Amino acid sequence: MITLDYRYSDEMVIGHDNGLNLNDEFNKYKDTIAHIIADLNKRKDKPGQWLQWMNLGYSEETVWYVKEYAAMVQGRFDNILVLGIGGSALGGIAVTEALLKPYWNLLSDEQRNGLPKIFFLDNIDPDTIKGLLDVLDLEKTLVNVITKSGSTAETMSQFMIVKDLLEKELGDNYRYNIVATTDKKTGILRQIAEQEGYKTFVVPDDVGGRFSVFSAVGLLPMALVGIDIDEVMNGIKDMDLALKNTDIFENIAAQNALIHFLMDTKKGKNLSVMMPYSSRLKYVSDWYVQLWAESLGKNKDKDGNDVHIGPTPIKALGATDQHSQIQLYNEGPNDKVINFIRVAKFDNNLEIPNIFEYTGIGYLGGKTINQLINAEADSTRVALSDYSRPTITITLERVDGYNVAQLLYMLEVQTAIAGELYNINTFDQPGVEQAKNYTYALMGRAGYEESAQSLQEKMAPLCN
Ligand code: PA5
Repeated sequence: MITLDYRYSDEMVIGHDNGLNLNDEFNKYKDTIAHIIADLNKRKDKPGQWLQWMNLGYSEETVWYVKEYAAMVQGRFDNILVLGIGGSALGGIAVTEALLKPYWNLLSDEQRNGLPKIFFLDNIDPDTIKGLLDVLDLEKTLVNVITKSGSTAETMSQFMIVKDLLEKELGDNYRYNIVATTDKKTGILRQIAEQEGYKTFVVPDDVGGRFSVFSAVGLLPMALVGIDIDEVMNGIKDMDLALKNTDIFENIAAQNALIHFLMDTKKGKNLSVMMPYSSRLKYVSDWYVQLWAESLGKNKDKDGNDVHIGPTPIKALGATDQHSQIQLYNEGPNDKVINFIRVAKFDNNLEIPNIFEYTGIGYLGGKTINQLINAEADSTRVALSDYSRPTITITLERVDGYNVAQLLYMLEVQTAIAGELYNINTFDQPGVEQAKNYTYALMGRAGYEESAQSLQEKMAPLCN
């Protein structure tokens, strides 16, 4: 199981002004946390609570269908092209980057065991879209279009471009190069898929985009490139079991949620840095940023009060950002909680050859890069504590499906518990909708005429 070390956020280590008396706080919040965990588990099956993501680890039917389809198309495609944005892309990117052999798309067919390369279009930069489409052989590409709403402008515009090209190239058979992941019943993509006869998978009801990585949204891309999704499911199930424990002293998601909440509300530290010391986990930080920001940044609490709260998440990478951000973290404003992710055993053990005797670098010879990266994580943590900066260290035994699934699921539960502590709705995103509506208005979507009018009025002074 992954572990959480919070000692460097305790006042015993970093002092009372910036640290917390965690034993006292855990005792003070024991009942509140027990109630939150019990309540989340009680509500999770009720429609409309947006807690169905807590059941995804047990969705054997989805796993079966995903594996069946992946096996059916195996050998037919050289590339998987995933179209989606936000919660429909970030989870898939995070897990495939973590679990595939590094530089997967540069490996030969043989090195990939005949499995396809994988690309996520994600953004809507015309140059990168065109650039990717120029190099992909579309006939040998399976396009997985993912959108829960079925109408997100970024995803659907990408899809319209790709579908048009596919149809021009493959004629009527183009539909066999498309698999759509969308809502079971509603949305335009569902309608199109049914009319045109695409293979489809479902984004389950009451699972928001940022909590959907363990539905077909993430499982299908993983299975298509040969990632063992049973191992992933085992990781979620074991973590889910551990996190059902209502005792805060035994529940790492509750501990980290409470620490972040108290650091924000009592110590003025409302920035949360996610800093894995593993390049394979780099995109877990992107995923975390969305999860934390969209879930916790809200202007109203559940009682309707104006609160404008939310800790700001920041992505970083160890050891790279020691040479970029750590100066600020050590000496700048003491307003952050820094989450390190540490990997105990890397797949490779890379020895540094003993080839130079210069005093400044000779000490490296005979050591391993593995020792170096973890020494850097440990020393940065201690240096930060010298400056009284709170850190948390999450340790994964290794970067594999079991551990990565545990990590992501733990962070999801942590977010849900933090949302309850802040007393806000963790699962809506009205602030995202506002900008989406303005975009629809600007692009002339029917039904958005009023927004277009108000937008024009607001933009007029800027145009003069
Ligand atoms: O987490 C969320 O709900 C959002 O980030 C969505 O995933 C994102 O806006 C994409 O939405 P959709 O899947 O409907 O295309």
